[in-house]
Amino acid sequence: MTDAADHQASNDYQGPDRVFSGVQPTGSLHLGNYLGALKKFARLQHDHDCLFCIVDLHAITMPVDRAKLADQTRHIAAAFLAAGVDPNKAGVYAQSAVPAHAELAWYFNCVARMGWVQRMTQFKDKSGKNAEAASVGLFTYPVLQAADILAFKATHVPVGEDQKQHLELSRDIAAKFNRDFGEPAGAPNFFPLPEPLIQGLNGNRAGARIMSLRDGTKKMSKSDPSDASRINLTDDADMIARKIRKAKTDTGEMPVTVEAMEGRPEIANLVGIYAALADIPDQVVLDRHQGSQFGPFKTALAEVAVEALRPVSDLMRRYLSDPDELDRIMARSADAAREISEPVMADVRHIIGFHGSRAS
Ligand code: TRP
Repeated sequence: MTDAADHQASNDYQGPDRVFSGVQPTGSLHLGNYLGALKKFARLQHDHDCLFCIVDLHAITMPVDRAKLADQTRHIAAAFLAAGVDPNKAGVYAQSAVPAHAELAWYFNCVARMGWVQRMTQFKDKSGKNAEAASVGLFTYPVLQAADILAFKATHVPVGEDQKQHLELSRDIAAKFNRDFGEPAGAPNFFPLPEPLIQGLNGNRAGARIMSLRDGTKKMSKSDPSDASRINLTDDADMIARKIRKAKTDTGEMPVTVEAMEGRPEIANLVGIYAALADIPDQVVLDRHQGSQFGPFKTALAEVAVEALRPVSDLMRRYLSDPDELDRIMARSADAAREISEPVMADVRHIIGFHGSRAS
């Protein structure tokens, strides 16, 4: 980022691969979260060690309704499990239950440079016109994110495009820690430089994302004031069908090729949603609906969406109806996460040189 040396810091990290990702417990989840994140997370658990964290420490960087925080945390955990994350294979836990996150974030606050963090565009977006009134936590949010990942020496981080800059910061922090504290403690490759895993939807158009149903140039978002812009995981069949029927299209015809969707963001989005839900390439969707009108296409899409989401929302409701069981699952995952992070933190304290610290 600042000096080129940060990027040249080649990393010969020898440890095992680990996947880490985080989701904030704010607002309810929608189709974009499901297809863009949860469903992919569930696939990763089959060939990677994965930790999926509900980042409630990040949530309090902005004003939150504290009475709802615990329930929203359960809501995200239920969504992970409903999307197929198996708690016997992957961790699903609340960030606040594992102290390493906050502890390492402090050390990293002393590694990261003001200039690096000041460059983060998400802070500028979130703090808006009145950055002076933003919490210090919001400013140092991406430093906590680096700590999330590196407390477990995670090597791969599935995230959306919008998190690429934060991940670069994580790499810079890891590289600087390794450089600054590598000698004399002898840990030049202590932390891995974590890589983003940014996949297009289901192998279709590279970098494709689920966009708003009302504006194909904007990401589907839980903070969009229009509920019609998104399909929530808790919407019932009628609501899903209604939102798809009302989704914005254009005055053209159903395209025949993927290239013909260029410059037609609303159509590309609906085709992309269909493809991702049915697990087929975009072109197959187009072949199936050649010569069709948007009306019948939308009816077919609504059917696919209702069918695909029903088992997810049913399972989510089942998990949420037994919060004690959900809490037990999260507590077991948090225990496992602590077991991974504690030796890393013991080494970190020792490397920094704190009194009384011992290497693990
Ligand atoms: N900042 C991420 C987002 O808004 C959430 C997050 C927090 C995260 N910690 C993380 C993502 C660690 C990946 C890894 O989406």
